[in-house]
Amino acid sequence: MAASTTEDYDVCLDDYKYIFNPSLLKGKVAFITGGGSGICFTIAEILMRHKCDTVILSRKLERVNKSSRRLEEATGQRCLPLQLDVRKPQDVLTAVDKALSHFGRIDIVVNGAAGNFLCPAESMSFNAFKTVIEIDTIGTFNISKAVYDKYMKHHGGVIINISATLAYRGQMLQAHAGPAKAAIDALTKHLAVEWGHQGIRVVSLSPGPIEKTEGIRRLGGELEEARVTSIPLQRFGTKKEIAEGVVYLASPAANFVTGTVLVIDGGSWLTGTNDFSLAKPLLELMSKM
Ligand code: HXC
Ligand code: NAP
Repeated sequence: MAASTTEDYDVCLDDYKYIFNPSLLKGKVAFITGGGSGICFTIAEILMRHKCDTVILSRKLERVNKSSRRLEEATGQRCLPLQLDVRKPQDVLTAVDKALSHFGRIDIVVNGAAGNFLCPAESMSFNAFKTVIEIDTIGTFNISKAVYDKYMKHHGGVIINISATLAYRGQMLQAHAGPAKAAIDALTKHLAVEWGHQGIRVVSLSPGPIEKTEGIRRLGGELEEARVTSIPLQRFGTKKEIAEGVVYLASPAANFVTGTVLVIDGGSWLTGTNDFSLAKPLLELMSKM
């Protein structure tokens, strides 16, 4: 599990067995921030395997370009790679315009862009806290608002915000990301209430620890792995399991689902520990990366 980089993990599945109808999302277009890597790369792949076209976006153009080629090759669907920083409204507006002029529609938004690192609150700089809030929470608002203004308020759609369970019980070394994700879950409810009458559903999907991701690497997956027995289902989740949740939420099977959080975590938030004896080794491990 331990890896100095997670780039090699951003490859399509060798073998995919359908759970849902393979044409479930035919004709739809998904706009996926963070789609060049990790969980959101696999979300893009599985949506495309259900005949959806995608736009994948992040700061590193080279990475989204490469990922888009892989995704198109594996699925036969179209994937438009775009560069943006979700913190910058002008980037966001331009990206939404480009996506709409390319595909003519955006039916599904996945707000997956995020930033995280382990840090005790006592040594967290003002800017470190602000940076994570800006990427996760403000980025989610920026994208949702731009897609709403330019498309969804007239056509409806579904917005899926990727959050986390960190704030459900409080989590050491996560005083920035916990509040950022909790605010996303609050935003999900507010937007669902305001935009429901326009045919827009807004939901959060909250993953637990997911193997082979940058997130788990940054949060000390190597040490966490030793504690996998504390997770009720006795393992980390897979990117595919998160992506199947997105397919459900984006599909007509979820037509009456809005303003809620789907937790896909093997029950881990119920039992996860705040083990202070691990704080020091975790921070040491991170400082060597
Ligand atoms: C303490 C840190 C830090 C660290 C950065 N900072 N890394 N502080 N410990 N390890 C501080 C910097 O010193 C700076 O503050 C401020 O944060 C901004 O840092 P920059 O590097 O200038 O920011 P930026 O280039 O915008 O990069 C954002 C980032 C970076 C979040 C810091 O790591 C990033 O780009 N991450 C994207 C990928 C990622 O994080 N993926 C994992 C998502 S997983 P000062 O005061 O010095 O200016 C995830 C899991 C959730 O979210 C839950 C799992 C269960
Ligand atoms: P990841 O691969 O690092 O994904 C984060 C993505 O966000 C990257 O593609 C990154 O690309 C992009 N990004 C970061 N800052 C950005 C910005 N300012 N503007 C645009 N894009 C930006 O990590 P992951 O582990 O797969 O996480 C994916 C999502 O799942 C995140 O929302 C995370 O919080 C959530 N999550 C993960 C886990 C887990 O176990 N991994 C658990 C719970 C929740 P660039 O660097 O190119 O910008």
